[in-house]
Amino acid sequence: MGRFLLCLAIGCALLAYILNPSVPDGIEERWKYRLVAASFKLYHLVGVAYSVFTSGDQSANVAIATQAAVCLALDHVSTEHEGPGVIRTRGNFNGTRVYIYQPPQSSDELLPGFIYFHGGGLSMGTALSFDGIARKISSRLNALVVNVDYDNTPKNKFPGPIRQAFAAVKWFLLHAREYGVDPRRIAVGGDSAGGYLSATVSHLVHDDKTLPELKLQILIYPWTQCLDFHFPSYQKYTKEFEVGEGIVCREGMIMFCALHAWGSARPELFDRMMTNSHVGPSFKKSALYQQTLAHGLLPDSYRNSSYYEGPSPSDQGDEEFWKTSKEIFLDPRFTPHFRKNMTGLRLRLRWKHLVKRTLL
Ligand SMILES: *[C@@H]1O[C@H](CO)[C@@H](O)[C@H](O)[C@H]1NC(C)=O
Ligand SMILES: *[C@@H]1O[C@H](CO)[C@@H](O)[C@H](O)[C@H]1NC(C)=O
Ligand SMILES: *[C@@H]1O[C@H](CO)[C@@H](O)[C@H](O)[C@H]1NC(C)=O
Repeated sequence: MGRFLLCLAIGCALLAYILNPSVPDGIEERWKYRLVAASFKLYHLVGVAYSVFTSGDQSANVAIATQAAVCLALDHVSTEHEGPGVIRTRGNFNGTRVYIYQPPQSSDELLPGFIYFHGGGLSMGTALSFDGIARKISSRLNALVVNVDYDNTPKNKFPGPIRQAFAAVKWFLLHAREYGVDPRRIAVGGDSAGGYLSATVSHLVHDDKTLPELKLQILIYPWTQCLDFHFPSYQKYTKEFEVGEGIVCREGMIMFCALHAWGSARPELFDRMMTNSHVGPSFKKSALYQQTLAHGLLPDSYRNSSYYEGPSPSDQGDEEFWKTSKEIFLDPRFTPHFRKNMTGLRLRLRWKHLVKRTLL
């Protein structure tokens, strides 16, 4: 009996911890939010538990275990109802795994194409975790959708995911007609890390003169930089949620960025990023940094609020550390902000109605 009560108490404590009731104001679907936040916590716990039994880099092990838990939870849920009649097949576009979604309406005309890159911090989930949205896009737009199943970090760190993403897009642009798709009506898009891949791949396509231009790039709350984790949005988030809470907290983004850059988020890297000290003071004062990432470039409304405490000091940072990693951070494939010429990229940040209008 005593043991049972103890188990019950531990179980309740765990459940209370996981279903932490703090839900920020302004969120309408409070239970949905709670469930998503709870599942993130649960995955993290599974990851930590797993890493106790494995040796090597703990941060990488947590990430790997978290991925396994996410796939277990999401990849086996049936989402066929999201796009009735849409047919999914597997493909391999020059070495990159993809899923291809064919809409039900058949006609002799070439279809528009939509290449989707899923989110998950480049570290969680697979293309199949986003099967529902791929089916929905295919069915609603009557478009052929390619859902790209790139490999996750830390095993596939920078520039691995970019190479796989570009290989798939290049292949599809050159072979679109074989799939009944008009190569002049192909868009790329994705959420979060998928937005980052879409932006970067659009740059690479634009620069490769053997390829037709993409029709459109759609970035849904994209991840675009790993140099400053104290932008007003990060400050607002940290004020409104508890530290480490919520769905995409500063700590989470730092983990994703570190796993992408170095294949590890060990404390020495993580702690530097928490204070923006991974970037050297000299670079923070450079023209490139000032023209792309200075807080003064943001609209006033972001900086005039009660949560904003100003940018982190520009003289903070470690010049020696920066020298060892700046090659990665300055690469526009890692930081799309640093692309010099943005002309002709057909970028859209909001996509309501737009996809339909542009592709059809
Ligand atoms: C296929 O990938 C290789 C590199 O792996 C690349 O050299 C080649 O250009 C790609 N071909 C196409 C058609 O994308
Ligand atoms: C923000 O504050 C500055 C001065 O502190 C003021 O000039 C500006 O009009 C304010 N902007 C907004 C959008 O409130
Ligand atoms: C920027 O790119 C556009 C289109 O790709 C090109 O026409 C223009 O000359 C470029 N500008 C510079 C300064 O290189």
